[in-house]
Amino acid sequence: MRDSVLEEVRAADAAAPATGAVYDRIGVGYSAVRRPDPEWAAIVRDALGDARSVINVGAGSGAYEPADLRVVAVEPSAEMRAQRPAGAAPCLAGRAESLPFDDGAFDAALAVLTVHHWTDLEAGIAELRRVAPRFAVLTYDMDVQGEYWFTRDYVPEIARAERSRVPSVQRLTELLGPCEVRELPLRHDFTDGFMTAFWRRPEAYLDPDVRRACSAFALTDAEAVSRGVERLRADLDSGLWHRRYADLMERDTLDAGFRLITGGSPRTVGGEGKP
Ligand SMILES: C[S@@+](CC[C@H](N)C(=O)[O-])C[C@H]1O[C@@H](n2cnc3c(N)ncnc32)[C@H](O)[C@@H]1O
Repeated sequence: MRDSVLEEVRAADAAAPATGAVYDRIGVGYSAVRRPDPEWAAIVRDALGDARSVINVGAGSGAYEPADLRVVAVEPSAEMRAQRPAGAAPCLAGRAESLPFDDGAFDAALAVLTVHHWTDLEAGIAELRRVAPRFAVLTYDMDVQGEYWFTRDYVPEIARAERSRVPSVQRLTELLGPCEVRELPLRHDFTDGFMTAFWRRPEAYLDPDVRRACSAFALTDAEAVSRGVERLRADLDSGLWHRRYADLMERDTLDAGFRLITGGSPRTVGGEGKP
């Protein structure tokens, strides 16, 4: 990655118009609840191997960006870009579907929990593959997550809405090409507060700030969510929840469907990161 690329990023960012991105509305308060989990951060860093330069697409507030690599972030939402901490990697206002970089400009491309928001998945994946020879894509499998207790038993509308949005792992692997798929289970004290992070902490769903930080809630009919939350509140108060889900409290980890898809060919790095 050349220094001039960073200059272009900064200039383009300064000149970026308001995007009207969905996360300008639903991303308020994101980084307070969505604290990157250290174990996942180590796994993502490991997946990037000896890459020196990384493009992080759908970067949000900068979660999982390795501090020891030269990262350029791309993020459409001004609200999300504003939540990037001081000293975070430079971030361009842009979209996966059209990345303003040369072919092979980076050693690796990273996309964490974002592909289900892209308006044109095929174009976004083609761009990811064009700008870097290898990739790490973190996503979730709705065949697994659709059975999660909260959505199955309290707000099935969430799973229905998510199924229409989240691409299958099979579809992603077809588009990405040869790759490996790794299961990423969630510890009971997982720190990144997306919906299933609270699988053993059901009281968290009663907190509107927690719900606001997760697109699965924000993009589902508000009345359906509040009906489900009120039923959960009643089941927690009566003790029914703890009787019904007693087996969960015995577990330390849960497979909620998260999958890390890695592949492509590492290249000899050095200088500009070109072969
Ligand atoms: C759940 S957040 C994930 C953010 C970050 N990667 C993380 O792990 O915290 C999804 C992000 O994808 C971004 N996004 C939505 N549409 C996009 C697109 N077409 N191209 C790139 N990013 C997009 C959103 O603005 C949002 O910041």
